[in-house]
Amino acid sequence: MNRLLKIVFLSSILYPSCQKENLSLCENLNNRLSDRVDFYLGTAVDLPNLLNNQDYSQIINNQFNSVTAENIMKPAYLHPSLNTYYWTEADQLADYCIANSKRLHGHTLIWHNQLPEWILNYQGSTDDWENLLREHIFQIVNHFKGKVSSWDVVNEAFNDDGTLRNSIWKEKLGPSYIEKAFNYARQADPNAKLFYNDYSLAINPMKRTAVLNCLNSLKSKGTPIDGIGMQMHIFNSFPENNEISNAINEIWKNDYLVHISELDISINPFSHAMQIPPEDELKRQAEKYLYIFKTYDNIPDQYKFGITIWGVSDNVSWIRKFYNRDDFPLLFDDNYQPKPAFCKLISNL
Ligand code: G3I
Repeated sequence: MNRLLKIVFLSSILYPSCQKENLSLCENLNNRLSDRVDFYLGTAVDLPNLLNNQDYSQIINNQFNSVTAENIMKPAYLHPSLNTYYWTEADQLADYCIANSKRLHGHTLIWHNQLPEWILNYQGSTDDWENLLREHIFQIVNHFKGKVSSWDVVNEAFNDDGTLRNSIWKEKLGPSYIEKAFNYARQADPNAKLFYNDYSLAINPMKRTAVLNCLNSLKSKGTPIDGIGMQMHIFNSFPENNEISNAINEIWKNDYLVHISELDISINPFSHAMQIPPEDELKRQAEKYLYIFKTYDNIPDQYKFGITIWGVSDNVSWIRKFYNRDDFPLLFDDNYQPKPAFCKLISNL
C-alpha cells in the first residue's frame, strides 16, 4: 500500500474528523503533539473526566506532557476552612502525573476568585491576615513539594487600566501581599518555579506594562519571581498576531519564563447561535494556533516554560458555561476527535 493510501486509511480510522482536512496536514497523526515541540505542552484537567471518561483521558495520556488542575488546586478546594486542608482530589491528580510522567503546574495559590467563604469573612488584624497568607501558602506548597514543579503564586492582581485589583488580599495587606506571597512560596519550596499569571497581557499593553513594572521592581528587591503566565483566552480575530508576538517577546526580554498558561481561541465572540462551527472559522483558528506555537518556539529555549491549552475538548470548555454561548475553542471537538487546529499543529510543527 503506497504512502498516500496508507495516510488515507490511517486518517479515516484514527481521526475521522480530519478526513475533511487536506490530508497532508494530518499525515503525522500517529505522533504525539507533545513530541512535536521542544517545550512542555499541557492542558487544563478536570479530575472526574480524567478518572471516568476514557476518550478524555486518552487524549491527555497521548498528546500532553504537562497538567494544570482546572479547579481542584484553587483555594476554595484545597483550604475549605481555617484549619482544614483537603488534599484527596489534588493528590489523585498528582499521583496520575507521577504515574504517567506528566509535569504538574499548580494553579493557583492567591487569587481574588474561588476563595472559600471563611477567607472572605475572616476578621483579624493585619498581622492575623499576614499569618493567614503565610500559613495558606506554606501548608499547600509544602504538601505538594516535589510533585508540583511550579505555581501560579498570584493570579490576576491587576485591572485592565494597570492599577492593582481591590481584592481582599490588597484590602487587608496592601500591595505588599504580592511580594509576601512569592517570598513565602519560595521559603516553602526552594525548587519550584514561581509565576505571576494574568489575562489580556497580549491585547492590553497598558496592563502588560504595569505588570512588568511592578514585577521588575519586586525582582530588583530580591523577590523570587521566575515567570509570567500569559493566559491567552483569545479569539480568531483578536488580538492581532503581531500583538501576541510583541507581548511574548517583551516578557522574555524582561527575563521571565513565559508560560502561555490558559490558551483557548474562541470562534464565536458575539455569541451567535452556532450549532456547527463554520469551516472557515475553524481554518482561521488552526492558523492562529499554529502562529502562536511557531512564535513561542522561536523564543530562546531558556525562557520556554510551555504552552497549556485550557481544556481537552470543546464540550468541556469553561467558555460555553461562563458565557452561555456556543463556542469551539480547543483542539478536540465534542466527540473527542481532532479538529483542523490539531491537524494543522501535528502536521506543521
Ligand atoms: O464544584 C462545583 C459543583 O459542586 C457545583 O455543583 C457546580 C454548580 O454549577 O459548580 C461547581 O463549581 C464550578 C467549577 O468551575 C467546577 O466545575 C463553578 O461553578 C465554576 O464557576 C467554575 O468555573 C471555573 C472558573 O475558572 C471559575 O472562575 C472554570 O471551570 C475554570 O476553567 C476557570 O478557569 C479560570 C482560571 O482558573 C483563571 N483564569 C481564567 C480562567 C477562566 O475563567
